[in-house]
Amino acid sequence: MDKKLVDEINLQIKYEFFSSHLYLAMAAFANSRNFDGFENWFKVQRDEEVFHAMKFYTYLLDRGEEVIITGFDNPKTDYKSLTEALEYALNHEGFVTSRINLLMDVATEVKDYAAIQFLQWFINEQVEEEDNFRNLIGKVKMVGETGEGIFHIDLEAAKRIFTPPAAV
Ligand code: FEO
Repeated sequence: MDKKLVDEINLQIKYEFFSSHLYLAMAAFANSRNFDGFENWFKVQRDEEVFHAMKFYTYLLDRGEEVIITGFDNPKTDYKSLTEALEYALNHEGFVTSRINLLMDVATEVKDYAAIQFLQWFINEQVEEEDNFRNLIGKVKMVGETGEGIFHIDLEAAKRIFTPPAAV
């Protein structure tokens, strides 16, 4: 594989693990505010990010390339409100989308057709990731963060489960 593409995928593994930490920190924040359903929701999101990281990891190894695992900065842990955490998450997903687009740009530039096909899954996944957060932000803003409305949204968030996507 092209070296720049391998380097960028290794960097992406780091960002996906960073995302998993960011959402685990948000899960703990949600728990501290007694939003147990949102805590569950963020923990599932954390699992999704580990899945993303491992998908890139497996891909590099399948292509005979070296995986380089690196550390990363601490995630943000202090939020004034659930809305602030969700908006921070949506903004972060925007960054991840720009990263996936960059990977696709490089794969296209070097005509790595296998990588282009592999990355298409992430292009679609990012649409869903951003939509999930936009949806939650909309709901939380609709009802506010105290009272019966948020109680029901929290109960709904408690139902989320992690289902590993079928192999592609
Ligand atoms: Fe791995 Fe939330 O994108």
